[in-house]
Order: sequence, then structure tokens, then C-alpha cells
Amino acid sequence: MKTPARPLHRFLFLSAGALAPFCSIFAQTPFAPAPPPASVAEARVVPYAPPAPVSITLKDAFKGRFVVGAAIRPDQVNGQIPKAAELLAREFNSITAENVMKMGPIHPRAGNDESSYRFEPADQFVEFGLKNNLFIIGHNLCWHSQMPGWMSQPDPGQSELTKEVLMQRLKDHIFTVAGRYKGKVKGWDVVNEALADNESQQGDLPYGLRNNSPFNRLAGREYILMAFKWAHEADPDAELYYNDYNLDASDFKRANAIELIKYLQGNGARVTAVGMQGHYNFASPTTAKIDETIGMFASLGVQVHITELDIRAFADSNAALTAAVGGVQTPPPAGQPPAGAPAAAGGRGGRGPATPTPPLTPAQQEGLSKRYGEIFEVLLKHKAVTRVTFWGLRDTDSWRRQFSPLVFDDAYGRKPAYDGVIHALSKAVK
Ligand code: GLA
Repeated sequence: MKTPARPLHRFLFLSAGALAPFCSIFAQTPFAPAPPPASVAEARVVPYAPPAPVSITLKDAFKGRFVVGAAIRPDQVNGQIPKAAELLAREFNSITAENVMKMGPIHPRAGNDESSYRFEPADQFVEFGLKNNLFIIGHNLCWHSQMPGWMSQPDPGQSELTKEVLMQRLKDHIFTVAGRYKGKVKGWDVVNEALADNESQQGDLPYGLRNNSPFNRLAGREYILMAFKWAHEADPDAELYYNDYNLDASDFKRANAIELIKYLQGNGARVTAVGMQGHYNFASPTTAKIDETIGMFASLGVQVHITELDIRAFADSNAALTAAVGGVQTPPPAGQPPAGAPAAAGGRGGRGPATPTPPLTPAQQEGLSKRYGEIFEVLLKHKAVTRVTFWGLRDTDSWRRQFSPLVFDDAYGRKPAYDGVIHALSKAVK
């Protein structure tokens, strides 16, 4: 695949210093002639990063530092969209199932026999990963959102769901799903988003648990411990992660996450990594906060993964994503697409036909490139960071597509943000 030609203005303001680290790789870059800038204003945009040579790929560039992944849908890997599969296999060495392994999609019907599950899409995802030698991440074994309706209903003849019934369902689910992909899925988000952003989301629950989760309400943090133990029993070689958002944006949540990891470790659970989702805004959280948070988790002896990276390309406020928790970004409610997103077949877990994303101005492209670059510089500082996964392949594939948040554009081409990511390597502490 060829990198699309870049407008000439992207080359006009590069200093010798900015180019120096890339000299050897630049020697191989075919400099395609490009049309002149459309206006003087456009020409004044200072590129944050030189375009990465076509020979570079994300997985090769970060080899020895961390694994680079993307979240994917079945149609991207089952032969329906060859361009997507080709880009994935070329640029990435890890994949995460965006939706098909969540409790609802994979376990839609009550019970625990073969007919209760829908494995085909997850099987296709795993098959693609194995064929392409990718580090396969299972997302996720337990999450109150996108949980199947039946799972939080009482057993027939019972008036209320009990802790025992819910725990048994969770145990069956984990043994069946983690057991089926034993040795193939290399790491599991065991529990997703158990923690509250703030006191109001916590309500009357202890330990910073969010009170809108049936798991939290019925089984406190004990089910989290058991989920880790069951997952380990089901596949003793699998890496196990606790995954959440805003860990670097809410001090309240971060403190409770630290306590949770200590509790799990103190009770004999294997916790390989904390997954910091990384659904970032244009300016928040600050890189200093991300840096500090990674350091705090690393000091617990766990690895840190950035598991769902996407960054808004511009700074406009978005009430729906920020208001609820006082400036801290939060995903939309369960089962709902993000505010402003075009309707997608199947709600939060589904996708309609590819919807074009709004074109970014050169200044917005460079702003996003800089933000990506600065964040990757921070990630490269920490040996504890062993995986970075983008939440989607192209902008139009993203749940936040209206913010053009990824490094590949709708046409599978590299955005300046891609160059920002690669450029971070030349600036990072070795
Ligand atoms: C959370 C979940 C993801 C995904 C996103 C947005 O971050 O972990 O699986 O659902 O919300 O859709």
C-alpha cells in the first residue's frame, strides 16, 4: 500500500533539526510532487512531524518498545473488506475484538450450553489473528454495559436476582468463553469499567465501585477477584487485565483503581496489566497527568496498556461527553451510540454503512499530530507500557468518528497524526 502524496506545505517548514533523526529513513522516501498550497494561510501551518517513510509501519517502528494494536469488527477480517485486513496485517501486531466478545454479543441467550452462545464472529476474529500472527486480546469477560438482558434477570420462579445466581452465571460465562479460546486469546480484559468517575456515580457503594452495575450492587468487589481467579483457571497462560477509562482524568477513580489492584494482588489474583482506555480529548487529560498515572500503576508492579486510544481532533466542547462528570470524558450510556454519532445498526455494538468523517483543516491535522506525538513521547518513557491499541482502524470506523480521532483516514491513508506518532520515537528518551 502506498502513502498518499502530501500537500507541499507539509514540507515547507521542516527544520534541519526536525529532519535529522529521520535522515536514513528519509533517504528511501519517494517525494511525490504535490500541488501548491491552496492559500497562504494553509501554507503557514507548521507541520509537527515529517511524513513517515512509506516503508515504515507502526508495528516495526515500535518493535522492542510496545505492541501496537487496533480494535476490529468481523467484516474487517472475514474477507468482506480486504483493504481493512491488509492494513491491519501490515501495520499492527495485535488485535482486540471491538464488540463480538462482549457478554451480550457472545452470550445472548440464557443458559450455558452451546445454543446459549454465538461464537461465529469471535471465532472469525480469532482465526484472523492466528493466521496473521497477531497478539489477540479478548474484550471483555465482564462488563455491566452490553451485558445480555437475561443475565440480570432473576431465575424462573425467583422474585429477585441473587448474588449466588449472578456469580454462577459469571463463572459459567468465563469458563466457557476463556476456555474456548485457551492458548489463542493471549490476554483478557477480565473486568471492564467497574469503577465510578466520582462520588455521585458511586452512590452508596464502597471502594469507588459504580452503582449502576448489577455486579457491583450484588457482589461488591468480590466478583472482580473471582473473575480474575476463574479466568486464570480457565487459561493459566493468559494475561489478565483490569480495563477502565478516565483513570488519568479523575483522581478519585485513579485512587480507587490503585486500591482495587492492591486488593486483587493481595488476594492472590494474577493481574498482568491495567488497561487505561485512552479515549482522550484534544487537550485533556494533560500529558503530565497521563505520565503520572502510568508511573503510579507501574509502581504496583503491573504493566500498563493503552487499550482504546482515540483522540478528538479539535477542542470544541461536547456537552454529552463531558458534562456528566465535570469536564471528565465519559462514554455514552449502555447500548447508546456517542452523542452526535450517526445512527449505527445495532446501537453501540453495531455499525451502519461507513459514514464519511468531517474533513479536518490543515491546522486541525497538525494539532492532532502534535497531540498524538506528545502522548506517544510519554508512553515511550515508560518500560511498563507494553501495548498501545487504537480503538478502530480508520476515522469512519470509530465510535467517535465525528471527531476524526484516529491516525488513518476514511480512505485507509495515513493522516499527519500517523507521522506525529512515528516522530515521537525520534524525540523519546532511549
Ligand atoms: C468502552 C468499552 C469499549 C467500547 C467503548 C465505546 O470504552 O470498553 O468496548 O464499547 O466504550 O463504544
